[in-house]
Amino acid sequence: MKEITVPAPAKINLALKIKGLRSDGYHEVELIMQSISLHDRIRLRKNDGGIRLTTSDPSLPVGKKNLAYRAAEVILDYVNLPAAVDIHIEKRIPVAAGLAGGSTDAAAVLVGINKLFGLSLADEVLLELAAGLGSDVPFCLHGGTAFAYGRGEKIRQLPDIERLDLVIVNPGIPISTPWAYTQYDRSGKKSNLPVNKLLQIIEEDKEIDWQEGWGNDLEGIVLKEYKELPLIKERLKAMGAQFVLMSGSGSTFFAVVEDQKQGEEIRDNWPDKKDFVTIAWTVKKDFPELW
Ligand code: C5P
Repeated sequence: MKEITVPAPAKINLALKIKGLRSDGYHEVELIMQSISLHDRIRLRKNDGGIRLTTSDPSLPVGKKNLAYRAAEVILDYVNLPAAVDIHIEKRIPVAAGLAGGSTDAAAVLVGINKLFGLSLADEVLLELAAGLGSDVPFCLHGGTAFAYGRGEKIRQLPDIERLDLVIVNPGIPISTPWAYTQYDRSGKKSNLPVNKLLQIIEEDKEIDWQEGWGNDLEGIVLKEYKELPLIKERLKAMGAQFVLMSGSGSTFFAVVEDQKQGEEIRDNWPDKKDFVTIAWTVKKDFPELW
C-alpha cells in the first residue's frame, strides 16, 4: 500500500463535567464524547524520507507545532522505522473551536500510518501513543459515543446512540482551553451535573432525554466573558432547535434539531453570514459512513 485517506471526524461533548483540579495541572473530568459527520480528510503517502505536512488551510502550522506531524513522529519512532511520509490535511473542521479538530487529525494519522505501513499495533499501544499527544486524542481513535474520564484520556466505549440531527455554529472566536479551565477554578463553582444519568441512559440503550445529564461546566464561564455568544444560543432556540449546548471550551455550539430539513432551514436562514454554520449528524464507532 502506497497511500491511504482517512476520515477525521469532529467531536462534540454531550456532557462536560469538571470534578476538580489535579496536582499535575490538569482537571479531573467526566465527559460524554460524540463523533459527528463534520470531518477533515487526511491523506498519507509513503515518501523517500522525512515528514512533509501540507494543509488546505494556510493558517495551520506544518511542522512540529501541528499535532498530526507529532503523531507521525511518535508512531514511526515507536516501531523504529525512519520517518518517511507525506501528510495532507483537507481541513473542514473550524480551528480552536472546541471540536477536537487538531486531536482528530492526530488520531487519524496514527490509525492511517498503522494501516499504511502494516504495523498491526494493538489498540492499547495506539491509545497510549494517543494519550501522550493530548487528552482528546484517545477518544478520536475510534470515536462514536464514549465516556471519557481522568483528564479525558481514559475511554469507555459506549453503545452507538440513535442518529441525532444537528446544526453546528462557530462564530470564529478562538477560545483558549487552559484559560477556560482556569476561569472555572477561579469561579469557585462546584459541578452538580448528573453525567451518570446520561451515561446510564446510553448504556441501557434508552431513548435520550436531554434533561438528564446534558450540560457543560465551561459554558457559563465562557458565555459570561464573550458577550456575543449567548445570542447564538438564543437564536438557535428561537429558530426551533430542541436543545443547544456549547462544545468543549467553545466557541462552537451544537443544536439538536428535529430532522435534517429543519437543520437546513436554520443553516439557510442564519442571519450572521460571517459565522461558520453547517448541518451534521452523529456518527457511529469507527465512522464507517465516512470512509
Ligand atoms: O491535553 P491537552 O493538551 O489537549 O490539554 C490542553 C490544556 O487544557 C491543558 O494544558 C490544560 O490547561 C487544559 N486541560 C485541563 N484538564 C483537562 C484537559 C485539558 O486543565 N482534563
